[in-house]
Amino acid sequence: MAKALIMDHPLIQHKISLLRDKNTGSKEFRELVSEVGMLMCYEATRDLPLKEVEIETPIATAKTKVISGRKLAFVPILRAGLGMVEGVLSLVPAAKIGHIGLYRDETTHMPVEYYCKLPADIEERDVIVLDPMLATGGSAIDAIKMIKKRNVKSIKFMCIIAAPEGLEALQKAHPDVPVYCASLDQRLDDQKYIVPGLGDAGDRIFGTK
Ligand code: URA
Repeated sequence: MAKALIMDHPLIQHKISLLRDKNTGSKEFRELVSEVGMLMCYEATRDLPLKEVEIETPIATAKTKVISGRKLAFVPILRAGLGMVEGVLSLVPAAKIGHIGLYRDETTHMPVEYYCKLPADIEERDVIVLDPMLATGGSAIDAIKMIKKRNVKSIKFMCIIAAPEGLEALQKAHPDVPVYCASLDQRLDDQKYIVPGLGDAGDRIFGTK
C-alpha cells in the first residue's frame, strides 16, 4: 500500500484554517490555495534525484548539485485543481501542465469525464496530480487511470484536504501512487462533502457561489 503523507507544517496548517473559514472571500481563498500548493510541492518533490556538477564561483571551483533525470508534469483535475497550479509552477517553472476534466454527477456522485489534454511526452515525466479535495476518491481514481493509460511510470497525488473514505478508496485502487495531503478530516456527509472541510473548493476559488 502506498504511503499517505500528512503535511502538518505550521505554515500549511495556519493557511488551511484560513481556507476553512466561511468568511474568507474568493480573492484570499484563491491566494491561499496557491500558497498551500506551493508549500506542499516543496515536500512532494523532496525525492527528486540530484547529480553533481562543477561550477566556478567568483572564488573557486565548487562541486555542487543540480536536479537531474526525469522532468515533471502537473495535472490539475478541473476545476478546483487549477487553483494549485500557480503555486506549484512557482517552484518548478519548467514543468508541463496537463488537464483532466471530471465533474460529479449530482445524483450518483460519480465522476464523469469531459476533458483530457496531457503533454505529448507525458510518459517521460514524473506526474503530480492536483486536486484540493479528496472526497469519495472517484475523480482521483479515474484521473490516475487516464494517466496510467499513457504509460506514465511515476505518479503522485496531492490534495489539501482528504476524507478517510476517499483516501482508502484511492489507496486501494492505486496502491503504487503516494498520496500527499495536508489534513485528513473526519468523514463525508450525505452530499459527499468533506466534514468539516472547507465547502466547495471550486466555487470558493472562482466565486461561483
Ligand atoms: N469537493 C469539494 O470541493 N468539497 C468537498 O467537500 C468535497 C468535494
